[in-house]
Amino acid sequence: MLMEFLMTGQDPAGAVEIDTGKPHPARMYDWYLGGKDNYPVDEEMGRQMLALDPRVPVMARVNRAFMHRATRWLAGHGVRQFLDIGTGIPTEPNLHQVAQQVAPDAAVVYCDNDPIVLAHAAALLRSTPEGVTEYLQADVRNPATIIEGARKILDFEQPVALSLIALLHFVSDEDGAHELVDRLLAEVPSGSYLMMTHATADFTPEESAAATAKLKAAGVTLALRSRDEFGRFFDGLELVEPGVAVVPEWHPELGEPVPGQEDGVIPGYGAVARKP
Ligand SMILES: C[S@@+](CC[C@H](N)C(=O)[O-])C[C@H]1O[C@@H](n2cnc3c(N)ncnc32)[C@H](O)[C@@H]1O
Repeated sequence: MLMEFLMTGQDPAGAVEIDTGKPHPARMYDWYLGGKDNYPVDEEMGRQMLALDPRVPVMARVNRAFMHRATRWLAGHGVRQFLDIGTGIPTEPNLHQVAQQVAPDAAVVYCDNDPIVLAHAAALLRSTPEGVTEYLQADVRNPATIIEGARKILDFEQPVALSLIALLHFVSDEDGAHELVDRLLAEVPSGSYLMMTHATADFTPEESAAATAKLKAAGVTLALRSRDEFGRFFDGLELVEPGVAVVPEWHPELGEPVPGQEDGVIPGYGAVARKP
């Protein structure tokens, strides 16, 4: 099975090693969303983030709601293949459930580098009979590994929606965040899409600087980007209306508002764009 193919380096018996000594973004995000797949170290850092901005859980839900709306939009516009990198711990509805509700034959490849997502990947593999889902354990900083694995499931002669939702603010410029996206986009054909959200310090610079410093001290990279820096991910692509938007303002008619999202600006951008 593909999952096993990409598990080189993992215990052959299937055991997954979880590092509970430092916070992990996937588990903190799960804690914000009210999930149970997190540890005291994640909750502790999550509480520190809430002390800086109590709306972090609303932001997590708003981000998730963007994924639902953008997936609906793409499936509604004929996209049948999705490559979702930085998937996170499964949280219903997952991307394949949203896509397959519109198009039961949609194929979705998920990918994350956190072993806890691998440990819960079974929930991501419950595809419709007409569709297909698969999970790869890989790091976005190794795009060749991801493409090699995804090619076993997806037809790269047909459009693919590349989904990088709340991922790239964990990838620094030194690690080549923009170049990685260019590299992934180079592999997919014309008519493919990039869907993305990204946190920003544009609206809350002081709180954001404090959050970045706290996470850095705990070993977590947070690379917040400005509107212009976010926009650069879409260079050479055709932005879908309304272009780069504050996350809840991207096609709000395709979903329900998240309670609390109206209490101030959500400090994150979202956009969807087509590869010409
Ligand atoms: C905030 S969560 C977002 C989850 C999901 N995309 C969503 O928006 O609901 C970020 C995810 O990116 C993953 N991640 C962070 N750095 C990564 C990397 N270098 N390669 C792959 N995944 C990464 C984390 O493990 C985590 O699951």
